[in-house]
Amino acid sequence: MTTFASPAEVADALKGAGYLSTDRISQVVFLAERLEKPVLVEGPAGVGKTELAKALAAIHERRLIRLQCYEGLDESKALYEWNYRKQLLRLQADTGDWDTVEGDIFTEPFLLERPLLEALRSAEPVILLIDEVDRVEIETEALLLEVLADFQASIPELGTIVAQSQPLVVLTSNNTRELSDALKRRCLFLYIDYPDVEREREILLTRVPELPQRLAEQIAGVVRHIRSLPLRKPPSVSESIDWARTLLALGIDEVNEGVTVDTLNVLLKYQADLDKVAGDLS
Ligand SMILES: Nc1ncnc2c1ncn2[C@@H]1O[C@H](COP(=O)(O)OP(=O)(O)O)[C@@H](O)[C@H]1O
Ligand SMILES: [Mg+2]
Repeated sequence: MTTFASPAEVADALKGAGYLSTDRISQVVFLAERLEKPVLVEGPAGVGKTELAKALAAIHERRLIRLQCYEGLDESKALYEWNYRKQLLRLQADTGDWDTVEGDIFTEPFLLERPLLEALRSAEPVILLIDEVDRVEIETEALLLEVLADFQASIPELGTIVAQSQPLVVLTSNNTRELSDALKRRCLFLYIDYPDVEREREILLTRVPELPQRLAEQIAGVVRHIRSLPLRKPPSVSESIDWARTLLALGIDEVNEGVTVDTLNVLLKYQADLDKVAGDLS
């Protein structure tokens, strides 16, 4: 893995991968790699949390293994599961005694590897992204903790699986609930907020290279203003990128109130928010 001598080098590498960092982001990434600690990235939706993990995979040329969290996610989807169908077929085909069969169907060929196990057993170091961890029940966090604490996991039939290589772990959270103290203690904490106007302009120009400078500036300014209003769902960076693409597609090279109101549905996803912003602009 490329090792970085300073946070500034991290920032340059991320930029090369199309990710616009901040001093804070570069510093935490630098420390995570030095201290071999997971990073917990928190912040509103669409500010570049998941993208950071993808960019890290790109700059280190490592495989990205993603565990997408959701309510009800359990060990069988996070760590491993036995391939019951295959086991059943083996049982039906078998004429031997039970001990032989049992010793057989709980072995490697019958194991279904899920993302955590895949990351642990990868010979090449990977980037492990545990995405939207706030969606799992607090009990499932315990499972993640075990893996993150020692980079190992136990499978009763196979024994303890110790990491073959140290993964770089990124967890993200949209902060819909408090995470356990134990999980937080394991990780370096990074809060990513909406970018300031200058950084958002840069992100827009990186993601939509054909966007004129001036338009990028105007979009970033208007979006910043809209975010200052009390909305149910303020526009995220993804939405300002969508807005930039929309304006380009419509051949618009100047943002004004009329244009903004006419295309607000790209930025806002609730009618109440649309009404509020339209009212504010006129
Ligand atoms: N710092 C950034 N540099 C470049 N692109 C960014 C940055 N932050 C956000 N983006 C863009 O915004 C999109 C949404 O980011 P994403 O990581 O999916 O958000 P979330 O925080 O919800 O995980 C990304 O696909 C990317 O195009
Ligand atoms: Mg995400």
